[in-house]
Amino acid sequence: MDKTILSPSISREPNDRLADRISFLGLEGAFQVLAKAKQLEKQGKEIIHLEIGEPDFKTPNNITKAAIQSLNSGETYYTPSSGFPELKEQIAYYISHTRNAEVSSQEVFVTPGAKMMIFFAIMALVEKGEEVILSDPAYPTYHSLIQLVEGTPVFLTLDENKNFTFDIKELERKITHKTRMLILNSPQNPTGSVLSSEDLERIAFLSKKYDFWVLSDEIYSRIVYDTPYTSYYSIHPPKNRTILIDGFSKTYAMTGWRLGYGIMPNALIEAVTKLANNTHACTCTFVQKAGIEALAGPQEEVEKMTAEFKKRRDCIVQGLNEIPGFHCQNPGGAFYVFPNIQKTGMTSGKLADFLLEKAGVACLSGKAFGAGGEGFLRFSYANSIEKIQKALAQIKNVL
Ligand SMILES: Cc1ncc(COP(=O)(O)O)c(C=O)c1O
Repeated sequence: MDKTILSPSISREPNDRLADRISFLGLEGAFQVLAKAKQLEKQGKEIIHLEIGEPDFKTPNNITKAAIQSLNSGETYYTPSSGFPELKEQIAYYISHTRNAEVSSQEVFVTPGAKMMIFFAIMALVEKGEEVILSDPAYPTYHSLIQLVEGTPVFLTLDENKNFTFDIKELERKITHKTRMLILNSPQNPTGSVLSSEDLERIAFLSKKYDFWVLSDEIYSRIVYDTPYTSYYSIHPPKNRTILIDGFSKTYAMTGWRLGYGIMPNALIEAVTKLANNTHACTCTFVQKAGIEALAGPQEEVEKMTAEFKKRRDCIVQGLNEIPGFHCQNPGGAFYVFPNIQKTGMTSGKLADFLLEKAGVACLSGKAFGAGGEGFLRFSYANSIEKIQKALAQIKNVL
């Protein structure tokens, strides 16, 4: 009898085991708290949502119209994996102008959301055991993906007193022969911090000196308030070691459309093409057409959204600083604030739960962004001034 054929009567290990790598992935805290808040809403409780990092504005009409027009004209087929040539041209033009750099469409890769581009870059570059330096706290996806490829995360502490930036000398001390990549995110999620051009220049110098890659996640590049934006790309870093990531979710209120992109050297484009080709194949055709309109069309809506975010930032920073036990820095960009809550005597997790249940305000524990986030909460102010003021009053009340 052939021994490789198992009789159904012979028992063996249950087959519902998952691959170990799944346990390396976390979940974004925002989505977990959102689910909990929705549950409370179902029970009739009114919740003010300051947890999710999603603009509360409508996608501008001209963009939606472009997608409808594309659908109506039958553009419902695959595109090249790297994206429609017209969109790549438009992105290259946009990046060349906003980053004061020369970018060709050959260096552009379009993905369904910036997150996919982060995934592909880490998949293509980081080997098991190689080190990736990132800030703590940071956008949690970075950590999950580094773990997925069995890389080693190396954390840089963000200094609250320096508006949540890190010390470049500390960065240099953390570079080893295993350092493969540094992840930058400016303006940053969750603190809203913005890196100065001096720091960016010093980082570019280190990237050249020690030959490591820099992934610069610039998804909040259009949401800056007090000083003009300086991109890592605009200080002319070594192009052969730089990946710039940006997208449409935050700038054009297009989170659900799933459209992002990366700018990278040719060798990496080839690797990412293989990854894309074997996974999502290409980014949705009519969404790409909407992306062309977003970049080429009028930009007034973007300016209006950013001006409104600035008003909200001023309102929430002032309001949080009036709450006993809270101390809040004034962030330079994105739509998040990251107040220190240590003087309330509660842990971040306990306080976030308490505010959700007692004040009806959904926010995130700073710890959802790494151990360095303990002692802080993250509020997203992608909600109206009225709602923000109401949330502040309710928090004050229960505390
Ligand atoms: C820092 C950062 N990078 C990337 C993303 C993902 O953006 P996208 O919606 O384009 O995937 C987010 C979303 O919250 C983010 O905060």
